[in-house]
Amino acid sequence: MLSTHSIQVIKSTVPVLEIHGVTITKRFYELLFSNHPELLNIFNHANQKQGKQQTALANAVYAAALHIDNLAAIIPVVKQIGHKHRSLGVKPEHYPVVGKYLLMAIKEVLGDAATEEIMSAWAEAYGIIADAFISIEKEMYEETRSQAGGWDGFRAFRIDRVVKESEVISSFYLVPEDNRAIASFLPGQYVSVKIKKEGAEYTQIRQYSLSDVSGKPYYRISVKREDAYQERSEGAVSTYLHQCAQEGTTLMLSAPAGDFVLDTADERPVVLLSGGVGLTPMISMLNTLTEHYPSRPVTFIHAAQHGGLHAMRAQVNALAEQHPQLSVHYCYAQPTEEDRQQRHYHKEGYIDLAWLQSVIPGANASYYFCGPTPFMAVINESLQQWGIPQADIHFEFFGPAASLQPV
Ligand code: HEM
Repeated sequence: MLSTHSIQVIKSTVPVLEIHGVTITKRFYELLFSNHPELLNIFNHANQKQGKQQTALANAVYAAALHIDNLAAIIPVVKQIGHKHRSLGVKPEHYPVVGKYLLMAIKEVLGDAATEEIMSAWAEAYGIIADAFISIEKEMYEETRSQAGGWDGFRAFRIDRVVKESEVISSFYLVPEDNRAIASFLPGQYVSVKIKKEGAEYTQIRQYSLSDVSGKPYYRISVKREDAYQERSEGAVSTYLHQCAQEGTTLMLSAPAGDFVLDTADERPVVLLSGGVGLTPMISMLNTLTEHYPSRPVTFIHAAQHGGLHAMRAQVNALAEQHPQLSVHYCYAQPTEEDRQQRHYHKEGYIDLAWLQSVIPGANASYYFCGPTPFMAVINESLQQWGIPQADIHFEFFGPAASLQPV
């Protein structure tokens, strides 16, 4: 346990580290990757380029340090990150390496201000935080290993079928090459997909939500093709899946992970809201609800630019016809002439609170949502305005977005 004095040192230096946040983390990654280039096989190179992960990991260390005297308060967030780490294959032996270069970067950037006292307090605090992650991740590895059909690390799957779901989204049906059982999963969970492009030096790993109900002989992921746009380069793995992968191609998958999951014990109505490719975990939840909980009322709301980009509309409409407890509502920002003629959508423009209140039968429900950041912000704000309790609001960002606030 850290001394009261060290805790004070840590808490008083967090704001200083945050001011130098980007400089420290940029230097940290330079040091980390020049000394351990093999870690480029695990880290997302695109996040590195965009600076996203550069802030996520280090900010999480600082935020955890603020709670160093009560780490129990941030366990839920440690678990959320732990799921991601477990699915990527982060191991206990990686922690001292990350700690070494993070501390080195802090020392370099702070210069004379980084006294010995400050540095040793941080070294100790990092060790405590790392231990919290390591022990939670250890449990996760054990659970995955012992689960029926579960496995350690990455396992070879074959693309059995590819189905085009919209102009930009395709579903990939994946079956294990060893033909053995596959682990069950909770609706909302994801898998990590690892690929190595021909001639590439490093592997690339990305997470994709499982988009069907658990219990099938395959896993299904539904992936959006991410084309290059302005400063952003094309999605390395999504482009590979759309352009190079085909039926028969082998993909390496880690076992399902993630804590953004449907609470199936809750019997209240459920509202599933998605924007764009954020529909993938929602479809898994929807298929689970209609298959296993057919009496639970479901409102399924989806926002798309227009019908051409709206994936799985026919499947969801077919479910709504068979299940009277399911109501579906689509909102298109820019419907096409065909969308208008075929009445593919229910609202034109963007989702707002008034419309949500008009289509959701009652406020007392559980809300799950996923989509692009502006969509998520609008939904979150609308639900808050409506007075929905925080405990009933569940969401997931795609990409590094965890915030280490106590929950
Ligand atoms: C992702 C925190 C240690 C590898 C993340 C994220 C956070 C985080 C907040 C983003 C989560 C998300 O995407 O939802 C931490 C903290 C650590 C730590 C606080 C130390 C106490 C490590 C170690 C490794 C590692 C030791 C392995 C060398 C990764 C990778 C990602 C990630 C590969 C995925 C994002 C990307 O590739 O850009 N971590 N992490 N982390 N972490 Fe850690």
